[in-house]
Amino acid sequence: MNRKIIVTGGAGFIGANFIFHMLSAYPEYEIICIDALTYAGNLSTLKDVMENPKFKFYKADIADREKIYEIFENEKPDVVVNFAAESHVDRSIEDPEIFLRTNILGTAVLMDACRKYGIERYHQVSTDEVYGDLPLDRPDLFFTEETPIHTSSPYSSSKASADLLVLAYHRTYGLPVTISRCSNNYGPYHFPEKLIPLMIANALNDKPLPVYGEGLNVRDWLYVEDHCRAIDLIIHNGKVGEVYNVGGHNEMKNIDIVKLICKELGKPESLITYVTDRKGHDMRYAIDPTKIHNELGWLPETKFADGIKKTIKWYLDNREWWEEIISGEYRNYYEKMYGNR
Ligand code: NAD
Ligand code: DAU
Repeated sequence: MNRKIIVTGGAGFIGANFIFHMLSAYPEYEIICIDALTYAGNLSTLKDVMENPKFKFYKADIADREKIYEIFENEKPDVVVNFAAESHVDRSIEDPEIFLRTNILGTAVLMDACRKYGIERYHQVSTDEVYGDLPLDRPDLFFTEETPIHTSSPYSSSKASADLLVLAYHRTYGLPVTISRCSNNYGPYHFPEKLIPLMIANALNDKPLPVYGEGLNVRDWLYVEDHCRAIDLIIHNGKVGEVYNVGGHNEMKNIDIVKLICKELGKPESLITYVTDRKGHDMRYAIDPTKIHNELGWLPETKFADGIKKTIKWYLDNREWWEEIISGEYRNYYEKMYGNR
């Protein structure tokens, strides 16, 4: 069956990987990418698919109602997958407003467009951060879909607000929605402001590796392709109105990841620099993926030991992609966030 899928935020990390996955898994589908090309969006990421006749790109802001309605009017999509977001916790602590506009208002505009033009499915790409955090001394606790929403940062609050709106649009207007809440992703095209790509880029340039606090915070890492396969399964077979947690039981302390990156790159651990902790820093994330496994048969395929090697190799083989990023406006960002820490 043919389908036309709008993917928002497709010039970013996970959205781009999802576009590659879908074009290769469903060559008959049409994929329409909408992206505002903020600092985190990079058209060069999509260069290999730009000429694909099944792919089309629109530069647009998801919170721009007129423009979004115009695109829906032209394209009449069957499915919308919303990745577009301001996604970096540290930036949300510096300046929350754009997070509210894009992550909450943008979600509402997209869903209004879905109501106006009709849709088979609206899928919201959410995050495990909506559940807050777990204590380090209770390794028996995990986030399930029933865990109460309990956010820490302006970023996670904006994502949680969007989730509540999505569920409200389902109940009030009968919009056919699904939500996925995934743990930390890693892999190719990850923007070098986030832990893993930042540490790889800094280590390769023999620059300090800034670890927040004592580096004991735990994240539950998932290779990006596994997340893309989970969303693929949810939009095809997931139950309308449902939330699915996505994660691969791969909890690691930040400091252990940074040391592993040093080891893989043959760089000294003396590059590690402990810096002032993130405000409101969540201690531990850990997803219970039982529901998506039982209902949709999803399981992660890439083990962390392999995924991190593949990721490091990708950053070594694609230096021009990230060197271009860190040579521009990023420098001011880095100076502002880390200069005095
Ligand atoms: P990213 O920051 O790499 O990419 C975000 C993309 O959205 C960029 O291309 C950017 O240009 C675009 N964008 C931003 N504002 C926009 C707007 N107003 N209109 C249109 N496009 C806009 O983010 P990511 O890491 O790929 O995350 C994608 C989604 O997945 C986000 O919704 C995030 O909350 C969620 N998520 C991320 C992770 C993770 O580990 N990275 C884990 C779980 C969930
Ligand atoms: O859990 C899913 C979330 O994962 C997504 O919703 C977010 O969009 C995504 O950015 C990510 O959030 P985190 O805050 O967990 O990711 P980040 O890479 O920013 O940080 C990971 C951990 O590393 C966190 O404990 C903070 C720490 N850290 C981060 C940076 C950038 C450092 O110690 N030093 C750093 O320089």
